[in-house]
Amino acid sequence: MVGFIIGFLSPSRPEEGYAHFLGVNPGYRGQGIGRCLYERFFEACRENGRSIVRACTAPVNKASVAFHREMGFSLVPGDGESDGIPFIHDYNRPGDHKVEFVRRLG
Ligand SMILES: CC(C)(COP(=O)(O)OP(=O)(O)OC[C@H]1O[C@@H](n2cnc3c(N)ncnc32)[C@H](O)[C@@H]1OP(=O)(O)O)[C@@H](O)C(=O)NCCC(=O)NCCS
Repeated sequence: MVGFIIGFLSPSRPEEGYAHFLGVNPGYRGQGIGRCLYERFFEACRENGRSIVRACTAPVNKASVAFHREMGFSLVPGDGESDGIPFIHDYNRPGDHKVEFVRRLG
């Protein structure tokens, strides 16, 4: 497998899609595959009437923060900060802190 994205259309927030995780095989990174996966997910969200996409990553994952910024995401203010990056404590479960991203679809 070269890459994958796991996301869904929010059942509780009818304007939103949520991307929980994406990964590209290390041998295939830097070739636009991550961008392509996100663009397909954005398109699926648009086709289903979603205008906002949210995503998250670990505060230590600086590469993912840079990637998401390149993909047009903004960082959501949190209740913590690491190297200038805001994050939300206990986002998924106790001890699992996350940086949250949001992107409006044009
Ligand atoms: C993050 C990840 C999905 C990026 O996939 P990729 O296929 O290498 O990304 P792309 O080649 O499509 O890059 C898209 C843009 O993001 C930027 N980018 C990608 N990786 C980057 C990095 N490590 N540092 C800075 N910028 C980066 C690229 O410069 C590119 O911008 P450009 O199109 O203007 O040149 C991949 O590195 C990965 O699988 N990482 C491990 C898993 C992970 O952290 N997933 C995200 C958390 S859910």
